[in-house]
Amino acid sequence: MRKGIALFAAVVLMLTGCGSSAASQNTSAAAEPTKEAAAETQTEETKTEETQAAETQTEETQAEAVSTETDSAAQGEAAANADKAETGSTSDTLVIYFSRTGEQYTVGVIEKGNTAIVAEMIAEQTGADLFEVLPADDHYPMTYDALTEVARAEQNDNARPAYSGELPDLSGYSTVFIGAPVWWGDWPMIMYTVFENNDFSGKKLIPFSTHEGSGLSGFDDKLKSACPNAEVLKGLAIRGNDAQNAQEEVKKSVGSWLTELGF
Ligand SMILES: Cc1cc2nc3c(=O)[nH]c(=O)nc-3n(C[C@H](O)[C@H](O)[C@H](O)COP(=O)(O)O)c2cc1C
Repeated sequence: MRKGIALFAAVVLMLTGCGSSAASQNTSAAAEPTKEAAAETQTEETKTEETQAAETQTEETQAEAVSTETDSAAQGEAAANADKAETGSTSDTLVIYFSRTGEQYTVGVIEKGNTAIVAEMIAEQTGADLFEVLPADDHYPMTYDALTEVARAEQNDNARPAYSGELPDLSGYSTVFIGAPVWWGDWPMIMYTVFENNDFSGKKLIPFSTHEGSGLSGFDDKLKSACPNAEVLKGLAIRGNDAQNAQEEVKKSVGSWLTELGF
């Protein structure tokens, strides 16, 4: 219970810091966080709140997170890395996503990642193939506090962490949804490895994020910069907590966004 109160307080503070509304979906340009808003989430104040929230986790929760079966092996099992040739898929749409299980902000220890849930909804509603980006060497901790530190170090180092395996042959896809959790106001650095190691020229790229206050965090502009020869369409931001706990609402948000995109 203490944990719940602490996390709730942190979220409220985060929202205040970001000036975000409770609405999770960026359905209009006005609702989408600007670069400045994303930068604002990066303020030391916000980071301190996140860190404090993690620090208030009880020893019991930490132990629960560590002992959970949602370890890297399970992450691997959860992967739905599609091989078009093998599956016989005829879809021209692919969903690429990165997501973590274990202990996550505001939701405790989760068995399916927030972004994974949204990715699967998109795939289900569009008939797209799925590819999960998994770290080659899974160095990401399963506790929130430790994960924030590793992610922060990677961002500071402008790292390009390796991912496991290869994307499906992109020549078979005209549209690629790309999603990830917001990490420190940005794409997790492993996603830049994906952007830079593959040729997305001529594709329609559609970003989506899960977050706890930062919205899309400029995922669209950052994707445009990383893949200048692709066309980047309107993105979607969903609160991670909603992905876990308000799935019917999230499905509707995803559906409206897909309709707007012409699906
Ligand atoms: C390392 C790290 C950094 C984060 N940074 C932010 C942030 O800057 N803004 C935000 O709104 N949420 C932030 N979060 C919360 C995640 O974006 C959110 O919990 C997300 O839904 C997790 O998705 P996943 O389960 O697919 O990994 C962060 C979480 C982690 C672990």
